[in-house]
Amino acid sequence: MPAIMHRPALTTTAAYQTLKHHYDVAKNWQLRSLFASNPQRFFELSAEAAGLLLDYSKNRLDGATMALLFALARECGVEPRRDAMFAGEKINVTEQRPALHTALRAPRSTVLEVDGEDVVKDVHAVLDRMEIFTERIRSGQWTGFSGKAITDVVNIGIGGSYLGPKMACQALRAFSHPRLTMHFVSNVDGHDLDALLQKVDPATTLFIIASKTFTTLETMMNAQSARKWFLSRSTAANLPRHFVAISTNTEGVKAFGIDPENMFPFWDWVGGRYSIWSAIGVSVALAIGFEHFRQFLAGAHAMDQHFRTAPLEQNMPVILALVGVWYRNFFNSTSISIAPYHQDLLHFPGYLQQLEMESNGKQVAIDGTPLPVASCPVIWGDVGTNGQHAYFQLLHQGTDLIPVDFIAAVKPNHSLEGHHAALLANCFAQSEAFMRGKTADEVRADLQAEGMTQSDIDALVPHKTFPGNRPSNTILMKALMPATLGALIALYEHKVLVQGTLWNVNSFDQWGVELGKVLAKTIQSELTGAPHPELHDSSTNGLIARVKAAM
Ligand code: F6P
Repeated sequence: MPAIMHRPALTTTAAYQTLKHHYDVAKNWQLRSLFASNPQRFFELSAEAAGLLLDYSKNRLDGATMALLFALARECGVEPRRDAMFAGEKINVTEQRPALHTALRAPRSTVLEVDGEDVVKDVHAVLDRMEIFTERIRSGQWTGFSGKAITDVVNIGIGGSYLGPKMACQALRAFSHPRLTMHFVSNVDGHDLDALLQKVDPATTLFIIASKTFTTLETMMNAQSARKWFLSRSTAANLPRHFVAISTNTEGVKAFGIDPENMFPFWDWVGGRYSIWSAIGVSVALAIGFEHFRQFLAGAHAMDQHFRTAPLEQNMPVILALVGVWYRNFFNSTSISIAPYHQDLLHFPGYLQQLEMESNGKQVAIDGTPLPVASCPVIWGDVGTNGQHAYFQLLHQGTDLIPVDFIAAVKPNHSLEGHHAALLANCFAQSEAFMRGKTADEVRADLQAEGMTQSDIDALVPHKTFPGNRPSNTILMKALMPATLGALIALYEHKVLVQGTLWNVNSFDQWGVELGKVLAKTIQSELTGAPHPELHDSSTNGLIARVKAAM
């Protein structure tokens, strides 16, 4: 194991102790009163960077709270850790790797050496190859075996090799090529691939096998089945026109039968959930074109520059992270709801689930000792306004405190009249309603005005009262464009780093996903071969036996 930087646990820092006392008072603050007593609140508690506005004024905190949280960030070493990440130090200590997703969007002129290699030079060499390839497909110069242009692109991958490309292709739908339809197959459940194969024509379909390791069971099984399907309709000589790979594993790609000429590489210092900027983004570049893909990278780079240079007090990812820690570690809130008020950000909550939960869902510190505080909350959500008609009831009147991140664009990417004003009105109304609530007196007055009898009013008031004081952030962008999407994703990536630093966890490994994979291998062999009941509990044995009996 590499040498590990020791630092005090969050709970032993002076700032944490002061924050605990501060919390004893702040927990009783009412957002309504905070707004009433300070007309400047929005201006004081909002930040701007890389085309994004973060309004964090509807949170149960004030300037003094933030000052203490910034002190906490300093005491926990957020700045040196951030700088270590940008410098390419091996901050992923359990795998002895840097975490250099920021190098993937660095301008060509940047020089950054890792183990004697200028990684930015390598990054741009691959980007240039991606540009040539994607332009050939988009222009129709690259054809399928019958000579027709490609019409359907199937990205086969899972986790980071799926969630990012799927999310970004949907988010940037307004920029997509009219001839190309993008498809994403991830699940080992054959229904996923089967449904797709029934729709596409082998002569005009391109399969992208996307896997950092090129060993992931789901992806390999889907890739093999897609290959078999293709070969039953064409010939092996035609495979190179229809199968390309994205991976760090050249040998694995060759063994699968894809010519390394048709492989786009990336590097072990790119974590799967941070890989959308690498060759894993090929499907995005195919959909939106390379000029737009470069704008996407540039938007993320603009957020990197901000994160790297802005004082903590104005640093958007730092602020977002600290507000999250305030609720997680002081108010004990266990989840955050992500509410994009933009249909094209439909897959953004799912993307953030992997980014945040796979990064910071940890129980031990970097040095292997148990964490003294809770780490990553559950991340979940859906687009507005749909969520309003499903689970917002619980957010308004349930017994848990669940902070919400609202995300919206000032301008829509469509021209349908009236819709966007209705959407934004709902977005802002929800955050206002969470903040204000509705008091019993206000409910009573409304019901009296309706002419209701006193006994009916008394019965209804508790049900119609909203406690309010429910916190939210609002992130506003001019429009959902390649650059703003890039900045938005980078904002959350850096939030993860800051929170991981405060909790003192390694945000770049994911050992927790291994156990299930190993057990699945054993059970898979038992489902098709001899059972080994001595390896399992009665529940698992019972389920295996039930399936085998019915097979
Ligand atoms: O099992 C989790 C994981 O390792 C993720 O971290 C990763 O994004 C995903 O699997 C896919 O991995 P690969 O790109 O190597 O197929």
